Amino acid sequence: LRRGENSNDLSGRRIVISAGGTREAIDPVRYIGNHSSGKQGYALARTAAARGAQVTLVAANVSLPDPAGVEVVPVTSAVELGEAVQERRSGADAVVMAAAVADFRPSSSVGSKIKKSGGEPVPIGLAENPDILAELVRTRPERAPGQTVVGFAAETDDVIANGRAKLERKGCDLLVVNQVGQGRAFGTDDNQAVILGTGGSATEVPNGPKEDLADRVWDLVVERLTG
Ligand code: CTP
Ligand code: CA
Repeated sequence: LRRGENSNDLSGRRIVISAGGTREAIDPVRYIGNHSSGKQGYALARTAAARGAQVTLVAANVSLPDPAGVEVVPVTSAVELGEAVQERRSGADAVVMAAAVADFRPSSSVGSKIKKSGGEPVPIGLAENPDILAELVRTRPERAPGQTVVGFAAETDDVIANGRAKLERKGCDLLVVNQVGQGRAFGTDDNQAVILGTGGSATEVPNGPKEDLADRVWDLVVERLTG
């Protein structure tokens, strides 16, 4: 029997999860986006609810059915997602940033549709978005055992080394690192990953349903919350 299976070990816990991919408006009809389907974040929400947690799912541009018993908060842009997560993180036992957050947004979103002028294309200037995960860590409430903060990272090469460096840089408790490219991870129902923890832990999760990876994440979150 897998740890966590059929158990109620997240009962009484409140969890905030972000899912999907943000869209950064260029004009009223266009945006800068990414390939995130939201499936991993939704799998996290379903499994946490099944294990008894009270779940809030901040969903950026996801076209999947709302998981039963989960509060879904729809958002569009990175700035909106950051505000929605921060507003709801107080009192939560864990915050999991599974969303693909755009690093940059157009520095000025114009109110009317950009037209072909017949001349040179108009360059799109970019501004950096706030780092929501790093902000969550920086503003974490100081109480024992504390709020567990989990990040996700998709890497194409040097997966472990890049993941380790990112975990340190972000200051989160756990970082779920998966390899992307070659048709892996985006939009699929399966995922393979390694979950890196502070103190050097590395939990390898073999390729399998996104629910399996989600359950391994919750196992480690429960360990931190109870240990
Ligand atoms: N993230 C965030 N806010 C951002 C960018 C990323 O909260 N503005 C979160 C993501 O939700 C994810 C984690 O940070 O949980 C790692 O995202 P990633 O894009 O891998 O990290 P970056 O620091 O943006 O590094 P990179 O330059 O590799 O994109
Ligand atoms: Ca990024």
